[in-house]
Amino acid sequence: MNDLRRGPDRRRYSALDTNVEGMAQLERAVEASRGKLSREYRDVIDGTTALLERCRAKTRWPTSDPTSGQAHDPIAHTVALLWHEWRALWSDAAECLAEIGSKPDHVAAAKAYTELRLTPELVSGPLWRQAYCKPQGYPGDYLVMEHIYDGSPRGDTSFGRIAHLLGVHIGQFVVKRKDLVREAIAAVLVRSRSCGTINIVSLGAGPAQEVVEIARSEDAVMRPVEFVLVDQDPDALRFAGRAVSGALSGRRDNPPLKIEPRQISVLRLLKEIDPTRLVPEADMIYSAGLFDYFSDRTCRTLTQRLYAALRPGGLLLLGNMKAGTDMAWPLELIADWSLTYRSAENVLSWADGLDGAEISLRTEATGYDYLLSVRKPA
Ligand SMILES: C[S@@+](CC[C@H](N)C(=O)[O-])C[C@H]1O[C@@H](n2cnc3c(N)ncnc32)[C@H](O)[C@@H]1O
Repeated sequence: MNDLRRGPDRRRYSALDTNVEGMAQLERAVEASRGKLSREYRDVIDGTTALLERCRAKTRWPTSDPTSGQAHDPIAHTVALLWHEWRALWSDAAECLAEIGSKPDHVAAAKAYTELRLTPELVSGPLWRQAYCKPQGYPGDYLVMEHIYDGSPRGDTSFGRIAHLLGVHIGQFVVKRKDLVREAIAAVLVRSRSCGTINIVSLGAGPAQEVVEIARSEDAVMRPVEFVLVDQDPDALRFAGRAVSGALSGRRDNPPLKIEPRQISVLRLLKEIDPTRLVPEADMIYSAGLFDYFSDRTCRTLTQRLYAALRPGGLLLLGNMKAGTDMAWPLELIADWSLTYRSAENVLSWADGLDGAEISLRTEATGYDYLLSVRKPA
């Protein structure tokens, strides 16, 4: 069973390549909802599509400027130029969406139009393609994350690489969130009072980029540490295992860092599996990019059960996308990537009743994602 939300009809995603019937379905959806689509929103989508078309037309330069003698990166240069106009259109789109936010049929009309006109332009970039086509069966898989962490322009064509890099720019909240998580892990590695191995659990671990960076860093690991990486997707765990091993093998010393992959659904921790079975006393349990897919009730119950599995002084760190931002346009409308965006009050309420806990809420540097921190008294 897959716990993440699937797109409504996976057959239609191949429409972007070969499935004419899939595209026709989208055409019909747009036609049927024409009265619900505002002119302003249609103009934003047509304007964005035209912007990308202009960009595509400009992708026939040489890859270096022979007169300057210096390497010239036309892809990064074009994305830098494009970004300003893209940002303005993004704001316009967000304004239109704020106006229709309370009318689901109008939002559905806007989404169908976006998927018909704009998404097919962008999916020549591997990041958009992976997010929209969902080859792992769910949105936001480990490869989407890896594209964002890697950050290099990938794709088969110049325009594909531009589209990809645009997606990487939009996804910077993932990188900034990971930076905060990595800093929190580094602090636990310094401060933990446990005498033996430090135990850290990552839920929905994906590519475990923060663990890879800890494994690479010369001064982070002074004491034995074990990371239990929990993910429902075996491919994600294999990928993370290879990446962490690669980081460790690049070092001359032999840092005492181990990982233990656990292929289970985090939802099984709600009832069936006691979280203390992952590790008896965790120094830190964290989850970034997962709670956004769960209901309020699930988030609250998980928070309470995970807190109980911490050792005294242990830290729980949980991420969730922030409500009231403009991120729904690229994610939900263009990439068909549904998340629950939450208010500060909502996220803080997960920790209600945890007496004595030290609770705080931070936002990562781009302002799109919250990190709830709950520390158990020592
Ligand atoms: C958006 S990615 C985040 C990955 C990583 N934490 C990061 O921030 O880079 C979500 C990850 O959670 C995993 N996942 C989704 N639902 C899950 C569930 N119910 N149980 C365990 N893992 C899950 C996915 O396979 C995916 O690797």
